[in-house]
Amino acid sequence: MIFVPVDFLKEGMILAQDVNFEIGGMSLLTKGQVLKANYIEKLQAMNIVGVYVESKMSADIEINQILSEKIKKDVLVSVKNIFNDFSRSNKLTVGAVGTIKNIAEKLVSDILSKEKILINLIELKGHDDYTYQHSLSVAVLAVAIGVKLGLNEENLNNLALSGLLHDIGKVSVPKEILNKPSKLTAEEFEVVKKHPEDGFLKLKKSNMCSVVTLMGIESHHEKVNGKGYPKKLKGNQIPFFGRILAVADVYDALTSDRPYRKGSFPGEVIEYMMGNTEVHFDQEILTAFLKSVAAYPAGMLVSLSDGRIALVIRNNEENTMRPVVRVFNEDGSQHSDIDLFHDKRYHNLTITGMGYGKEITNSSMMNNVCEINDFT
Ligand SMILES: [Fe+2]
Repeated sequence: MIFVPVDFLKEGMILAQDVNFEIGGMSLLTKGQVLKANYIEKLQAMNIVGVYVESKMSADIEINQILSEKIKKDVLVSVKNIFNDFSRSNKLTVGAVGTIKNIAEKLVSDILSKEKILINLIELKGHDDYTYQHSLSVAVLAVAIGVKLGLNEENLNNLALSGLLHDIGKVSVPKEILNKPSKLTAEEFEVVKKHPEDGFLKLKKSNMCSVVTLMGIESHHEKVNGKGYPKKLKGNQIPFFGRILAVADVYDALTSDRPYRKGSFPGEVIEYMMGNTEVHFDQEILTAFLKSVAAYPAGMLVSLSDGRIALVIRNNEENTMRPVVRVFNEDGSQHSDIDLFHDKRYHNLTITGMGYGKEITNSSMMNNVCEINDFT
């Protein structure tokens, strides 16, 4: 299978994965479905990056989904409901918190049932309002980190809940500030900075969340150098869940499109985050995170520093920044597979862009791989 940016989808391509979409109610396109013009229009209207389709040139590639589409859909609906309830009544009912706790447990058991926990960010991007999608992504990334750090299931459930609700305090922040397309003024930023404590205090009143869950929510914007908020805590003073959520939160936020900027590529964000260890992030947690995410997911086209376009075949768990890639001849025929991590001959070769970047979508290679004959 191969990841195709949404603008390159053509009728006749066969979906290689289920896709949720929401236009007047949630529906599902299922794996194996042949794309028709109206499906493609809907996928384009969803503003998603792209989808995986079947492809002969990459028939040997396997994509492990971290979450089933069913769970993903259930999580998004529950998060949306609890945020809406909270925004209407300014308090959380026992029933609403009970439902979201239940869904957090399902999310954890779905992740734990997977043989390999390596997150492809594309899987978590997409088809819903940013706030809900971001809550889901942060919870999944946090749980993946928690698994690598050896947390037990009860703690993972608490951590997932902390991730799903980490930004619930934002319902009290005016929409004009939250969605402002330019830089916030100092006063506006002060308003935004209230959301961790606001969420913490209101959830505490519900008496339904564990202390670790609440502390994670309150401290997800602290930085290890003491320059975060609200309490300017340093290093290990920052609750453990808060340090995990900080990593998950920043990674998802920087890779997402926002009103004021385009999302960056996972590889770029990972490099930025590695440069901020011991400034913003806890070293041990960042290391666990790096083992949990695929910077360049399998099935993704990437550009290489020698100008060639290649397809990611699989990830090396020891170093997810240097996967095994398949390079092609000019006419799109397969040339060879290169292991960027284990094969010393290629250590100078780097990945310079991925999937939906201009250097790839403008290349003749993209047109070659998207020839319809390749899919049928
Ligand atoms: Fe936040």
